[in-house]
Amino acid sequence: MVPVRVARPGAVPAGRPVTVPCVEFSEVIRRRRMVRNYDPDRPIPAEVRDRLLAAGLRAPSAGFSQGWGFLVLEDAHDRDRFWAVTADAGEPDAWLAGLRRAPLLVVCFSHKDAYLDRYAEADKGWTDRDEAHWPVPYWDIDTGFAALLMLLDAVDQQLGACFFGVPPDRIGALRGAFGVPDPFTPIGVVSVGYPAPDRRSPSLRRGHRPVDQVVHHGRWRAPSGG
Ligand SMILES: Cc1cc2nc3c(=O)[nH]c(=O)nc-3n(C[C@H](O)[C@H](O)[C@H](O)COP(=O)(O)O)c2cc1C
Repeated sequence: MVPVRVARPGAVPAGRPVTVPCVEFSEVIRRRRMVRNYDPDRPIPAEVRDRLLAAGLRAPSAGFSQGWGFLVLEDAHDRDRFWAVTADAGEPDAWLAGLRRAPLLVVCFSHKDAYLDRYAEADKGWTDRDEAHWPVPYWDIDTGFAALLMLLDAVDQQLGACFFGVPPDRIGALRGAFGVPDPFTPIGVVSVGYPAPDRRSPSLRRGHRPVDQVVHHGRWRAPSGG
């Protein structure tokens, strides 16, 4: 950790630097992992929350469309409502019990229409708004980029965070519970809190795939032996 003096816009009167802990960028990437259990008695200070959200909003987006929306849930009543509409009733398993302790949930929504509208503008020219122009759904990708920046900022602020999905059959109830308009699709949720001990995900046993299996220099080659 490298303590540096930085000014956080909005957090302090203009021009007054404050000291915040910062982690080297390469360390942020290396240390990032999904944290699925949090200290339930340690809420996220407003300025920490705002910095995390601001980091997300710096994400790149196609045509600078920024076709996203973020539902921020901190109030215990709101968080309970989120879990009530997205998770099964009954005793939560260890995974859910840990996630439910997160004092902050950021539900990340993508907004396809914002992209179709943006690319119908004169400088882009796709006035037919035909989705066939799009190689992949950039609205989901850009919202995912924003979520990733929040995950990285969480590491930088000594927080724990996890990205997880909303079951497809719960999306309607989620929209209904929080007044989210239909054109907004939840691509996932970033849960945030001060980390508590958690169990390693069994998925991690897979290990990172070797570089030579996934990186192809000059020409696509089958992995050795493949
Ligand atoms: C698109 C996406 C969806 C994910 N969904 C879940 C989820 O529903 N539940 C969960 O516990 N983790 C979820 N994860 C976290 C992955 O399991 C995790 O990133 C992976 O196992 C690697 O672990 P690490 O992020 O700690 O390095 C998701 C990650 C991504 C990128």
